[in-house]
Amino acid sequence: MLTTRPTGTNDFLPGESEKWQYIEQLCRQVCAEYGYKEIRLPIFEHTEVYLRSVGETSDIVEKEMYSFEDKGFRHMTLRPEGTAGTVRAFLENKLYADPQPTKLYYMGPMFRYDKPQAGRYRQFNQFGIEVFGADHAGIDAEVITLAVEIFRRLGLTGLSVKINTVGCADCRPKHMEELKTYFRQYEDKLCDTCRDRLERNPLRILDCKEDGCKEVCKGAPTTIEAACDNCSTHFNKLLEYLDAVGISYEIDTNLVRGLDYYVRTAFEVVINSVGSAQNALCGGGRYNGMVEQFGGDDMPGIGYAMGMERLLLTLKEQGIELPVSKHPEVYIAPLGEAAQKEAFVLTQALRGKGIYTEKDYLGKSLKAQMKAADRFQVAYTVIIGDSELEKGIAVVREMATGEQHEVALSQLVEDLEGRLK
Ligand code: HAM
Repeated sequence: MLTTRPTGTNDFLPGESEKWQYIEQLCRQVCAEYGYKEIRLPIFEHTEVYLRSVGETSDIVEKEMYSFEDKGFRHMTLRPEGTAGTVRAFLENKLYADPQPTKLYYMGPMFRYDKPQAGRYRQFNQFGIEVFGADHAGIDAEVITLAVEIFRRLGLTGLSVKINTVGCADCRPKHMEELKTYFRQYEDKLCDTCRDRLERNPLRILDCKEDGCKEVCKGAPTTIEAACDNCSTHFNKLLEYLDAVGISYEIDTNLVRGLDYYVRTAFEVVINSVGSAQNALCGGGRYNGMVEQFGGDDMPGIGYAMGMERLLLTLKEQGIELPVSKHPEVYIAPLGEAAQKEAFVLTQALRGKGIYTEKDYLGKSLKAQMKAADRFQVAYTVIIGDSELEKGIAVVREMATGEQHEVALSQLVEDLEGRLK
């Protein structure tokens, strides 16, 4: 136990963590260009926050929440997703009083007690965006574009945007009744989960991955057929906006997503190589009505979240090397205790100039230190022994050529700065 991490969690070690930083920085950069500001939220919320929003028939609420009672007997849940907490914070901090729309982003760990497998974990990380106060289809297009742009800058290929309209308070009740009538005829062909969904939320049957259910779904009344005029107009406008900026998409009438809060737009960006169940790199949609459900005024919302672990897996699968800097530029090799101290001072001075510098702390032989410098793949190694100290100099070795120069210690920082330019 002491040396085993909990099932479904990951350690991201040096070598890997630089990639995370790179992607997080890219997300921040793109958000800055699009005018999305960061919101940092608690990792746990009152359980009610998720019951109200994610929905009682969702897998998350039914079986995946990490819930606990705190010492004050309050019901708390480790956040399984970021949208509900953002809505809570939007209201609590009165962000609705700011000029709208409010455009936010977040990143961090989420928790779902799910069956772990490649691309599916119990603690995983999302980068997500949420927009409040804009009902125009153009903002739906912007949200989708912001996801596609991140994937594009990472150099990912073979992605497709799947998109659907899932109805609203006006057209969904009728569609639900039509679905119930339709699925009741095939009840014996549905899987156990879908049989259970039939009366409670038949819409979810549409995205069941079981072969039998998929077959039955082929004849079911689709969300697009059931859409009211307002939903249809919104959907068509969104598609026009995506066409206008050249974002290709596939309309997937079975895409209803696993969270109950979506209305109108629902979308996912999928990749086919991570196995069929975990192919969604990102998913989101509109959730008009959620702010009102939390006690606020009627205020539209839309957003998505991207699974960071899945993104990294996909980058690996596609052989994409991120330009993360790995090597120090200078290695300082002291020989003897007096040189150690001088080397420490020089190391600090070089780092103060923004030069990534490493030094020996183990009192290794010159040969072993040169080996270490090679392993670090530095551009320059600085050798300081007793005789160099006496003369007030250091030997600077250019690793690529093997050329060596003597440089006065007082000039060393300047000298290396010049060489590294
Ligand atoms: P979601 O589809 O549940 O949506 O999750 C979004 C993404 O998080 C998925 O597409 C996937 O990449 C990643 N993900 C989900 N579960 C796991 C897991 N167990 N292990 C690894 N990655 C996972 C939401 O969370 C919504 N809050 C998105 C949203 C924002 N909708 C509107 N605004």
